[in-house]
Amino acid sequence: MLVLVTGGAGFIGSHVADALLAAGHEVVVVDDLSTGRRENVPAAATFVRLDIREPDALATLFDAHRFDAVSHQAAQTSVSVSTREPIRDAEINVMGSLHLLELCRARGVGRFVFASTGGAIYGEVPEGTAADESTVPSPISPYACSKLAFEGYLAAYRHEHGLDATILRYANVYGPRQDPHGEAGVVAIFSQRLAAGEPIQINAMRETGDDGCVRDYVYVGDVVRANVRAVEGSLEARVVNVGTGSETTTRALARAIEGALGVRAEVRDGARRAGDLARSVLRPHPELPPAVPLAAGIAQTVAWFRARG
Ligand SMILES: NC(=O)c1ccc[n+]([C@@H]2O[C@H](COP(=O)([O-])OP(=O)(O)OC[C@H]3O[C@@H](n4cnc5c(N)ncnc54)[C@H](O)[C@@H]3O)[C@@H](O)[C@H]2O)c1
Repeated sequence: MLVLVTGGAGFIGSHVADALLAAGHEVVVVDDLSTGRRENVPAAATFVRLDIREPDALATLFDAHRFDAVSHQAAQTSVSVSTREPIRDAEINVMGSLHLLELCRARGVGRFVFASTGGAIYGEVPEGTAADESTVPSPISPYACSKLAFEGYLAAYRHEHGLDATILRYANVYGPRQDPHGEAGVVAIFSQRLAAGEPIQINAMRETGDDGCVRDYVYVGDVVRANVRAVEGSLEARVVNVGTGSETTTRALARAIEGALGVRAEVRDGARRAGDLARSVLRPHPELPPAVPLAAGIAQTVAWFRARG
């Protein structure tokens, strides 16, 4: 198959591109390099630098290639940026995505895989439960709203145009190549800081000094497997949680990373950050049980950060 991977210079998209190539597909990556890095794009992929908000540039791309499928990873990915710049967030995540979807419809690209977010659209997940795909979404950030809005467009295009669309709702993804310089991506931030001997901060879930928020951390390899299966058409379900069902506090995560690196960190306690969900845990879809336990994924991730120096 010829597959378009948007956001393929980013963390998850570049791993998806690697895996599709390894499975024998041809890959075209588009990315505007706003947060992605050119060196993440696999050498065997064709790279086109463009912004998905530019329909003419996208049309030229679709003139040059007859794609069989699209794996749409490009996005404004930061919850906090979305609260500061909700219009830019929607321009990229809704309008940019819609430009892409319209071209797929017009050019007969049958299969569309969308990187959505189970970590954000379900909102607070009550103690003792895990959100499954039937949980009613309850977005509390512009980012979650823009992702959920585009899910709605996909459902409409599926209904109206027979588009074969799969929505992958990721939990908190971690692994090699994740950017450690952002405000999110705590595994990358802790791995890089601990490997460099720097202190880390645990932001409170409620009161400063508590163990921090509860999250479901899923290794990027499991997310990649979900994408490859969706692109190849071997997933039955059309809305799919990609998570582990395991819950980890920020403090437990810090301990796991310390253990993997064999270091003891200076840990500072921070206040609760506005907008942070206290608890987010996903029930993995039965077609996609997680394959990589947290300890194994952390070991791979810290090895990568350590090797990078
Ligand atoms: N990392 C997570 O925990 C997580 C969780 C849920 C969902 N997601 C989703 O997964 C996808 C990939 O996220 P990631 O963590 O790899 O982030 P990332 O920032 O590493 O990747 C996003 C890529 O999209 C590119 N991009 C941004 N705006 C663009 C535009 N207008 N035109 C073209 N390219 C553009 C960036 O340069 C970057 O390479 C995103 O859709 C994100 O919302 C990520």
